[in-house]
Amino acid sequence: AEGRVALTVHGDRPGPVYDRRIFTQFAEHLGTGIYGGLWVGPNSSIPNTRGFRNDVVAALKGIAVPVIRWPGGCFADEYHWREGIGPKAKRPVKINTHWGGVTEPNTVGTHEFMDLAEQIGAEAYIAGNVGNGTPQEMAEWVEYMTAPAGTLADERARNGRKAPWAVPYFGVGNELWGCGGNMRPEYAADLTRRYATFIKAPKDTRILKVASGANVDDYRWTETMMREVTGQVDALSLHYYTIPGSWPPRASASVFDETGWAETLSEAMRMDDLITRHSAIMDKTDPQRRIWLAVDEWGTWYAGDPGTNPGFLRQQNTLRDALVAAVHLNIFAKHADRVKMTAIAQMVNVLQAMILTDGKKMVLTPTYHVFAMYKGYMDGTVLPIDITSPWYNKDKWTMPAVSVSAVRGKDGVVRIALANLDPNRPHDIAAALPGLTAQSVSGQVLTAPAMTALNSFSAPNTVTPAAFTGAQLQAGTLSVSLPPKSVVMLELK
Ligand code: AHR
Repeated sequence: AEGRVALTVHGDRPGPVYDRRIFTQFAEHLGTGIYGGLWVGPNSSIPNTRGFRNDVVAALKGIAVPVIRWPGGCFADEYHWREGIGPKAKRPVKINTHWGGVTEPNTVGTHEFMDLAEQIGAEAYIAGNVGNGTPQEMAEWVEYMTAPAGTLADERARNGRKAPWAVPYFGVGNELWGCGGNMRPEYAADLTRRYATFIKAPKDTRILKVASGANVDDYRWTETMMREVTGQVDALSLHYYTIPGSWPPRASASVFDETGWAETLSEAMRMDDLITRHSAIMDKTDPQRRIWLAVDEWGTWYAGDPGTNPGFLRQQNTLRDALVAAVHLNIFAKHADRVKMTAIAQMVNVLQAMILTDGKKMVLTPTYHVFAMYKGYMDGTVLPIDITSPWYNKDKWTMPAVSVSAVRGKDGVVRIALANLDPNRPHDIAAALPGLTAQSVSGQVLTAPAMTALNSFSAPNTVTPAAFTGAQLQAGTLSVSLPPKSVVMLELK
């Protein structure tokens, strides 16, 4: 290792809460994200509960998914909720115009999605249709789901659900600057005000409204939205994907060299700057940071895997994706006073997925394991960090080699997450821990011999967490020997 990295974890200056909703998952009607990945139907030979696969649901429970965003994405702004209720045989079969032009049977609709959320123990984040739906359609959907009484509540009961569902989060359209209607921010802001007016929560309940936010670095969008919709919504979204190369994504998810590694991680690190800038704009109209920045689409986006439908966005997931996930989860800690919700795209079989399935086979991706390692962060208290990291450079890509965050969990355990972006060199870290009185350290490490390592159906445990023995705690100082290309989660007790 070259020199020691000086790190301070400020137990003496507890910061904001690391909101559990930062671990929200996005599940869109796209490719095999819903059909095949989650839903196989009650008559399938794949073990299921009311149509949802038991293996996938159990795995998702294992990472305590707090919230699921559904039904899109781009799909949301063409989705008509009435087509997904009532007897399945009578539901219209539509074309999924965004994703591969395949048929959408509407088999999974509101009742099925809510059942899935309940099976997993997650809250519902429903994305409404502003693109080609009306405010009335949106209002009626909200009433259908949440009303304790009335004609729509009766219809819900006839369709099998008497008690109202909770809808804690509702998205007022998605990507209104693009697939949601190609709007100018001024027009999108006006529509957001109009539609949001009719999203009404029943007495004694709350529905947090999320406005459709900017694409990447569209600061004018954020400025306009904040000027026009502050007071009407509770959150503004931001979408930023990690894409090596230019749009449309052409790079392979699993065949890459060190340049592809470095470029991808450098693009992931950009999230920090994007949040800083969008948040600074939000500060102008919302200095108290009441409006959340909801980064409700993030993650890697590569070319689809060879032999797959390009519209299905099916991609492999390697150790590189694990590092991308850790970098994001660490960046979100730094901005936890503004970023209360984020959603990785997407949950199963699509983009940077937790889980990949093929027929009855299922595998947990390296990204899944990162989410499992960070689980103790949920609703803990962020501890500020000072670090002078060495740099990692490859070709024109340059970045701090060590990414870190720390959270005191609700269980009192202090957790420190460290990611070494450098695929070649270990880094030795000496950490001062003012205000912390921990006596012992233990941890887990996620790494593999190759940076392209992945979990396949035939070798599902190639990238899997192992006990970490490279950390010592002596006289209040923590020393860590961080292996190359690794994610480490320490627990200090
Ligand atoms: O996650 C895939 C797509 O990316 C979503 O549908 C859309 O919102 C974004 O452009």
